Amino acid sequence: MAKVLVLYYSSYGHVEKMANAVAEGARSAGALVDVKRVAETAPAEVAKAAHFKMDQSAPLAAIEELANYDAIIVGCPTRFGRLASQMASFLDQAGGLWMRGALHGKVGGAFTSTATQHGGQEVTLFSIITNLLHFGMTIVGLPYSHQGQMTVDEIVGGSPYGATTVAGGSGQRQPTAIDLAGAHHQGKLIAEAAKKLFPG
Ligand SMILES: Cc1cc2nc3c(=O)[nH]c(=O)nc-3n(C[C@H](O)[C@H](O)[C@H](O)COP(=O)(O)O)c2cc1C
Repeated sequence: MAKVLVLYYSSYGHVEKMANAVAEGARSAGALVDVKRVAETAPAEVAKAAHFKMDQSAPLAAIEELANYDAIIVGCPTRFGRLASQMASFLDQAGGLWMRGALHGKVGGAFTSTATQHGGQEVTLFSIITNLLHFGMTIVGLPYSHQGQMTVDEIVGGSPYGATTVAGGSGQRQPTAIDLAGAHHQGKLIAEAAKKLFPG
């Protein structure tokens, strides 16, 4: 059974919802899935004043745990077009894992959320993917087998590089059924890839 980690950071809950959909997708492929988040680095008073969603049930991840998984799917919101510093700060602790090649060959993927449709989704995904490639991971995106990303009948997230959602300028838009289906599909594909690569 493939072991999959969905690792996320979310200030307002959009990426948290996407993370749970990614996890459901991976479970639907028979994987053993953990959902964990990285620590908030903003001071508590800043997070409170900015109305961050403080009640997130996922446990905090520790960097050494990454070595325990066959696949790691990383999600965080965009910050000025690239990954959030909370996630970057967590991944920057992976020097020891990198030195040992502890993540080589594992399956990886990225998902994100932006406020606006063209506010940096693809570059944010690639900023996460860049980290994962340095770790030696094999990347799985979100191919057009997720047909929902083709529609122009409504605003949708989703790109070949990973699942996405569009939160709106004040976070008023929640991930839609199509956005969540994209996240679910990417989780399923990554779990299937991990099962093929790590059949034991
Ligand atoms: C400092 C900061 C920078 C941001 N930069 C961008 C940006 O470049 N483009 C964009 O579309 N949204 C930007 N946003 C909006 C966030 O991406 C949005 O709040 C997030 O996608 C919501 O996801 P969450 O609920 O999981 O935190 C920014 C937000 C903050 C706080």
